[in-house]
Amino acid sequence: MKKLAVFGGPRTVPEGMVKSWPPLSKDDRKAVMSVFDSNILHGTGAPNAVALQKEFAAYIGCKYCLVTNSGTSALHMAVASLGIGPGDEVIVPAFTYWSTAAAVLHHNAIPIFVDIEPDAFCIDPKLIEPAITKRTKAILPVHIHGMPCNMGPIMKLAKKHKLLVIGDACQAHGAKSDGKMVGNIEDTCGFSTNRSKNLSSGEGGLFTTNNENAYRVASMLREFGEVVVHGEDREYNAYGMGWMYRAHEFVNAFCRSQLKHLPENNAKRKEFAEFLTASLDDIPGLKGPYTPPRREPVYFSYIVRFCPDELGLDVPMGKYKAAVQKALAAEGIGTGQWQRVPVPAQSVFKDMQGYGKGCPWNCKHYGRKFKYRGEDYPRTIKFIAEHAYLSAVHPPNTMKLMKLYVEGFKKVMSQPEAILKLIAEADKQAKK
Ligand SMILES: Cc1ncc(COP(=O)(O)O)c(C=O)c1O
Repeated sequence: MKKLAVFGGPRTVPEGMVKSWPPLSKDDRKAVMSVFDSNILHGTGAPNAVALQKEFAAYIGCKYCLVTNSGTSALHMAVASLGIGPGDEVIVPAFTYWSTAAAVLHHNAIPIFVDIEPDAFCIDPKLIEPAITKRTKAILPVHIHGMPCNMGPIMKLAKKHKLLVIGDACQAHGAKSDGKMVGNIEDTCGFSTNRSKNLSSGEGGLFTTNNENAYRVASMLREFGEVVVHGEDREYNAYGMGWMYRAHEFVNAFCRSQLKHLPENNAKRKEFAEFLTASLDDIPGLKGPYTPPRREPVYFSYIVRFCPDELGLDVPMGKYKAAVQKALAAEGIGTGQWQRVPVPAQSVFKDMQGYGKGCPWNCKHYGRKFKYRGEDYPRTIKFIAEHAYLSAVHPPNTMKLMKLYVEGFKKVMSQPEAILKLIAEADKQAKK
């Protein structure tokens, strides 16, 4: 049995082997430099902005797309363009990046949180109905870690209660639920294209819809509440509240160049993820993610579950997880924690620190009092405690790295006594 790297043995993954995301090419450079040479740096009617919108809409299969300067701005447009506003309630999952809920608050609507599925990590459709009140206007499912939500029951519920559906697909470009791409199922949807995302432009976002009115309203929100028509004289009249959510042409050109490789990059992520999951099936102590039927994830993050019971170890989850992560890190296998508490347990909700002075939650006409408690979302708490993401399960890394990952998992997991030793060392350290 090979000595673990954490105790001075040889490391499994050679130093410098892991490559970062996104893969960059000469074509990306050419695309960005062509903007530089064109001298058209800005504008919602600029050539790369217009072309990117057309190309992303074609990829998703929807009618309209607007490019924005972040996923958060795309989500805000997705909320506001459907007429959701002060006092309206929007149902969101407790397990997400808090930007999802911020997009609701940005329009003075109120996020109402719901827990995740018992066997996966998206919003549980069964828990949505009990959260619906007479003020509920929309459901905002988040396709998290690249996993599409169970959209069939969500759309049925929305129809039954006459609710709108807004998608957060910031982590799920190309994911499908019941064979249909996210971003083309919901009434409106927001995508992020920040550095880490499946479609990356450094920073940016994309709004999609099939609803012409939402598209029209979102276009105004993106540009100060004005109607700006490319090639026509500007009216300089704001029809309502607006923001400055325009994207830069360098970013648009880069995004277009990256979009060309999205299908092949997603296919690679899937190949790596399926290999890892199948391998982990036979390695006690660590497991890959469960994919429910009729859902096609794009593995924005590849997540692993820590299972001390499979090794017969009766130790607290937190200590086991920390010890295994430490041992894996020494082998050159990076893991990380994404989110530490349910979103409603974050200070902004617990303390209701929005715009200040209790606003927006204390607005008189909202008609009810709100209270957020993290402990109301036990599945999210358990999920966060038991899981971590595995770094670099994406191109330009190759199957060679995935095979070394599996070698490293086997090495660490076959030495439970070494894991116990790490736990004992951590305990000793904590007592000092
Ligand atoms: C689920 C989710 N929603 C929203 C966002 C916000 O996107 P951005 O950072 O581009 O504003 C992100 C990414 O950061 C995200 O992961």
